[in-house]
Amino acid sequence: MEKLMISGGRPLQGTVTISGAKNSAIALIPAAILAESEVILDNLPLLSDVAVYSEILEELGANVSWEGNQMRIDPTHIISLPMPNGPVKKLRASYYMMGAMLGRFKEAVIGLPGGCNFEPRPIDQHIKGFEALGATVTNEHGAIHLHAKELKGAKIYLDVVSVGATINIMLAATRAKGSTIIENAAKEPEIIDVATLLNSMGASIKGAGTETIRIEGKSELRGCRHSIIPDRIQAGTYMIAAAATRGNVLIDNVIPKHLEALTAKLIEMGVEIEELDESIRVIGKEKYESIDVKALVYPGFATDLQSPMTSLLTQADGVSVLSDFVYSNRFKHVPELARMGAKIRVEGRSAIIEGHPLNAAKVKATDLRAGAALVIAGLTVSEGITEVTGVEFIDRGYDHLVTNLRELGADVWRQND
Ligand code: EPZ
Repeated sequence: MEKLMISGGRPLQGTVTISGAKNSAIALIPAAILAESEVILDNLPLLSDVAVYSEILEELGANVSWEGNQMRIDPTHIISLPMPNGPVKKLRASYYMMGAMLGRFKEAVIGLPGGCNFEPRPIDQHIKGFEALGATVTNEHGAIHLHAKELKGAKIYLDVVSVGATINIMLAATRAKGSTIIENAAKEPEIIDVATLLNSMGASIKGAGTETIRIEGKSELRGCRHSIIPDRIQAGTYMIAAAATRGNVLIDNVIPKHLEALTAKLIEMGVEIEELDESIRVIGKEKYESIDVKALVYPGFATDLQSPMTSLLTQADGVSVLSDFVYSNRFKHVPELARMGAKIRVEGRSAIIEGHPLNAAKVKATDLRAGAALVIAGLTVSEGITEVTGVEFIDRGYDHLVTNLRELGADVWRQND
């Protein structure tokens, strides 16, 4: 296994170009099987989850070719195969195969998702939507079996604002007869990105990005070409790293609006931010104010940035409170940060963070965003070397991480553990 070695204390300087959004890509790839001809995806991130998804589609007979940041998916000869095991078990978001295969074949057998283990990740709202569309759904020996004589549009109210359920229901509903309304839908930009792809394929989806999405079912969809939106979570991670190392970094190829909540909190604590059309410059300062942060559904502060933000808040004067109202227990990075001298206590959904310098230690990533938090923490430590194991988690969400950080002046390298 590999580990990341970090000799910190160097301000990050220069420009980093953000790649396509992971949480879009792993929904857009399964969505492609709803088309009867080739779909081309540009600005694809080079991540292990993306590679797993191309493996899943090839298993079904799709012709997948991947060159640089472009993936071509020809689903013409794809067949319906049960997938109780195999690559579907390698990632959490394999659940999107349920909506895509239900839409295309009216049936699916998908092994229950794996992926990040920061807390149980239910899919009851996904299933509620599929049943509303006319599918029978059973859980047999750890695999979800879905079957529908036909899919009929329905009105679906989500009890919980869920990104995955919103996208999954949208996938199935595009091939249902009649119209579907999803109420209390999630509004994340990745949902708009998937709706944009589906509409380019000939679907009729209105309202993506609002709490009410209307979908007119179509009997057939065609291939198209689509460029994936930039990864706002990757961008936010580099913004936080720039602030934490008191650097001066231009984060390029971003949609600033997608990062409004983070930008506002960074400014509140004293970071200097310059917003341009498609990039954001972050200029760190010596002193930061402690602040309170609430991780909420979009457009609130992203839960995927709460662990990296925790590392930055250890650099602020005074006590900050960071609460996560999306996940109740996404604090596995806290004991690892404590090994680096951080003074943080967790109370319920909140982490109470007392500003305190960190020191080098051997720490372990338990999920991709916790891993990013540990890398950021290591970058702030000028004495000694921080070792981060669990790099495979980090590689699921951050392509070219070491290359990008080294180009920004960080002394970071991979080493066999
Ligand atoms: C997506 O996960 C992202 N993953 C997550 O990013 C992100 O943290 C999350 O949205 C919230 O923004 C992908 O897009 C692949 P949810 P998802 O359904 O769709 C509860 C990362 O780091 N819920 O919006 O699984 C759930 O327990 C990953 O890139 C139900 O109760 O999240 C949670 O408390 C981690 N029943 C809340 O809703 C359901 O059926 C939001 O979950 C579904 C969800």
